[in-house]
Amino acid sequence: MARDWIAKMINHGMVNRPRRLRRTAAIRRLVAQTRLSSTDLVLPLFYREGISEPQPISSMPGVVQHTMDSLKRAVDEAIAAGVGGIMLFAVPQERDDRGSGATDYDGALNTAVRTMSEHVGDRTVLMADLCLDEFTSHGHCGIVTLDGVVDNDLTLGRYQEMALALADAGAQVLGTSGMMDGQVAAVRTALDEASFQRVLILAYAAKYSSAFYGPFREAVDSQLVGTRDTYQQDPANRREATRELRMDLVEGADIVMVKPAMPYLDVLADVSASTEVPVAAYQVSGEYSMIEAASANGWIDRDAAIHESLISIKRAGADIIFSYYAAEVAARINS
Ligand code: PBG
Repeated sequence: MARDWIAKMINHGMVNRPRRLRRTAAIRRLVAQTRLSSTDLVLPLFYREGISEPQPISSMPGVVQHTMDSLKRAVDEAIAAGVGGIMLFAVPQERDDRGSGATDYDGALNTAVRTMSEHVGDRTVLMADLCLDEFTSHGHCGIVTLDGVVDNDLTLGRYQEMALALADAGAQVLGTSGMMDGQVAAVRTALDEASFQRVLILAYAAKYSSAFYGPFREAVDSQLVGTRDTYQQDPANRREATRELRMDLVEGADIVMVKPAMPYLDVLADVSASTEVPVAAYQVSGEYSMIEAASANGWIDRDAAIHESLISIKRAGADIIFSYYAAEVAARINS
């Protein structure tokens, strides 16, 4: 009989009963190996220059381009919800081929950072994206030469200038997302020489050339034609991420990031297993929009899918998760 058979197997140590650990919600909660807390979550926010009302982003339902006033309110709400930090992006009114707006004192991002820094002080961790793509007329993350190539070393000089402008505006953490070689060293050197030793670098160690950034490009009104395949990583490559990680650590990264998150959980696990610095992952716009679209159609349970996506990213090794759901989920966790 089946029962005799299983009793024998248990006596021989050949069958165990992990289901005992799953019997009640209270037991499952007690033995959960991964927990999400609100302070793990960082909320990315978009400020758009020259608008008088927040503008919806059609491919990211529920996310808007903010005015300065609505940005302040969103920041206050996120802090009240208990998020660990906020990351600012900006959409400028004007662009040019070298991305001047990124380094102008009164450029869109610098103004947003300065205003939010005065507004929040040390109540949260204020981060800013350090990349030229929102500010260039061609939409690339760097300086494009006459032959159409994104020039690595010319771009590094611009990143240094941008780092100083953002640090001066009050950014506490700079997210180096441009994927130029040597960008962490370049930015660290410029910051230190200008006595901004306190400013942290969040290095996008592994940033893949991903179709999941699609909705973000609407969010920042990106001018990009073509791809970023010559500087962002090839989705086919896993070990290359560990190489990028090692370089960023040597160059002085304080926190490292893997992006996107869910399609790259193997990479996230590798990165997390091979470094002692905090590891972040970015649940990007396309990951958000897929959940929104499927749940709008009634195809998945929205809140459960959000929770499962975030817990999976954490389980794979992220200490910090950037997510457009950050404030909503933080509020839910703390309610
Ligand atoms: C580059 C940048 C990108 C994202 C964040 N920083 C997009 C890109 O490489 O085109 C994407 C974030 C998202 O999709 O949510 N400044």
